[in-house]
Amino acid sequence: MTFSSPGLLDTEAIRKDFPILDRVIHDGKKLVYLDSAASSQRPRQVIEAVSTYYEQHHANVHRGVHVLAEEATALYEDARTKVAEFINAPSRDEVIFTKNASESLNLVANMLGWADEPYRVDQHTEIVITEMEHHSNIVPWQLLAQRTGAKLKWFGLTDDGRLDLSNIEQIITEKTKIVSFVLVSNILGTINPVDAIVRRAQEVGALVLIDASQAAPHAPLDVQALGADFVAFTGHKMCGPTGIGVLWGRQELLEDLPPFLGGGEMIETVSMSSSTYAPAPHKFEAGTPPIAQAVGLGAAVDYLNAIGMEKIAAHEHAITEYALARLADVPDLRIIGPASAEERGAAISFTLGDIHPHDVGQVLDEQGIAVRVGHHCARPVCLRYGIPATTRASFYLYSTPAEVDALIDGLEHVRQFFG
Ligand code: ALA
Repeated sequence: MTFSSPGLLDTEAIRKDFPILDRVIHDGKKLVYLDSAASSQRPRQVIEAVSTYYEQHHANVHRGVHVLAEEATALYEDARTKVAEFINAPSRDEVIFTKNASESLNLVANMLGWADEPYRVDQHTEIVITEMEHHSNIVPWQLLAQRTGAKLKWFGLTDDGRLDLSNIEQIITEKTKIVSFVLVSNILGTINPVDAIVRRAQEVGALVLIDASQAAPHAPLDVQALGADFVAFTGHKMCGPTGIGVLWGRQELLEDLPPFLGGGEMIETVSMSSSTYAPAPHKFEAGTPPIAQAVGLGAAVDYLNAIGMEKIAAHEHAITEYALARLADVPDLRIIGPASAEERGAAISFTLGDIHPHDVGQVLDEQGIAVRVGHHCARPVCLRYGIPATTRASFYLYSTPAEVDALIDGLEHVRQFFG
């Protein structure tokens, strides 16, 4: 190992929990997994929690009086409590389980689209997002704007990959109903200035939705301290299963806002002419929910808590600092996003001369190194910086300095390969 820091976790012990990290691919190449921003790997403890659930406890939730139905319901609702505590929600009833962060973001857009005053989005109102959003925090708002006639506005980007808030008073105005923005960019790595945006939104009475998909897995997340009205994130980037996302919302809003999907378990009573709805969170969880996935997410929360979110954040910070320092010495490599580890999360996007990122990714893959290439579902960022795509290396609690070294060696190989 070429680098050590007091912030680093005992990755030798942690990696024993992640069977997939032992995989050998392409004729003997050890897997170097640098794609956790797309989807993290999950530890044995999560895999076992899901199998035990299916082997011992599975039934539908909230519907039966038999033992298995009660056990499944208790496990599902325990997972909600664990998630609520993980994000410091004032009440477990403020945690809605969805399929993923995209569904959480779409849910808010649809709640507002069907809402009455004072939340209603219509042709007299404005929606504010930013140019660094993931497509899942752009397209739902475009759809809502098309449907309602509302105006869609956004904050642009500075040359060094930050939000340009110089015109914040012109962007967020008395007409703004909702400001929806990402806490940590999946492509640039930028950590955004929540306080300034929330303060301005509150001045004009706008709601705030924060996409914490790239934040919740990596550092302590306190929804009360953020000051937002809604926070969305997903389970599969934080050691949980796929198919489970979270929307946290302030209780009084969840009481006031209408449901989006209708179906079983979200109702209080139904007649042929009308229905009344169950209280939140059930009002927003129509149909059989992702039960095993929620149980797995609860186990992921236990796993992350046992290591400690502060420690995970310190580990990733040390790895990111080391990676930035080493990448700075690679000829022709341009980092897209903030240059300093202080202002960014653990995903680093870059271009390498004029070699197309897909070629970079392929040659790295031949060496066992998994990175993501493309526009990372954030195409407007690529358009802003005049590049077709980037290569992105992203780190998590199991990433090691030796894997950063492997990436640097891999990039040297790419450069030689393409002359
Ligand atoms: N949102 C995921 C990523 O950034 C898929 O890769």
